[in-house]
Amino acid sequence: NPFPEALPGTTVIGAAIHWYPEAPSTNIYALECERDGTVFIAEHQTAGRGRHGKRWHSAEGLGLWFSIALAAPLRGVSFGAALAVRNALANKVAVDLRWPNDLCCASRKIGGILVEQRGNRIALGIGINVNHRPEDFPVYLRHRAGSLATATGYAWDRTEVLTQVLMHLDDMVIRMRQGGHEAIHDEWTKACNIIGCDIRRGAIVGRVTAIDGDGALLVMTGTGPRRLACGDITIVRPI
Ligand code: BTN
Repeated sequence: NPFPEALPGTTVIGAAIHWYPEAPSTNIYALECERDGTVFIAEHQTAGRGRHGKRWHSAEGLGLWFSIALAAPLRGVSFGAALAVRNALANKVAVDLRWPNDLCCASRKIGGILVEQRGNRIALGIGINVNHRPEDFPVYLRHRAGSLATATGYAWDRTEVLTQVLMHLDDMVIRMRQGGHEAIHDEWTKACNIIGCDIRRGAIVGRVTAIDGDGALLVMTGTGPRRLACGDITIVRPI
């Protein structure tokens, strides 16, 4: 196990870090866990989950595939998590946040966040592609996926990345629990840099006016306002 068994000095996150050589999806373990802030990390996931029922490619030993068990409710947790990852890496590489909630470096998706809830338990699942080379991705992902290594040209220490991310998440969870979710939502919205852009999805063309509390895009079209909860959009004309 290359990772520490606990993280000293944090308030909520990482009192225990459970490591598995293989797991179906670390979110499953987090959803079953009662202890707030417990981390589950796997070297490899056999049924990694992405948003909207998609699969998440979780290559062995190359990324960080982990989930944190948290007590619900925790408003804005997916936005806070994206900001925490971005802030954790900010002094080494620029991470862009892309709607609906992708982590990107140099226009390639390097990570994603999947929040699942069951009763009063939340699983905050985070996947970060760390040391993948282009050929480590399956062909269908190669044109749009990247890793910290493909973005920077050097290999990263996964333990260091995990530690930094968990420390930033700890601050973020405390902020959320102290009622900071609106400020966090605003920060995330700003970071997404999509307000005012002209976008298209299928027949829908319009200008983005806001992102609501659930992360949906509010778009003003020629026939009135529309709400887009998810899906692939094309930015027709950036501001
Ligand atoms: C996305 O579709 O962008 C979200 C991807 C989330 C992947 C992470 S990896 C750890 C955790 N376990 C899973 O099965 N999914 C999340």
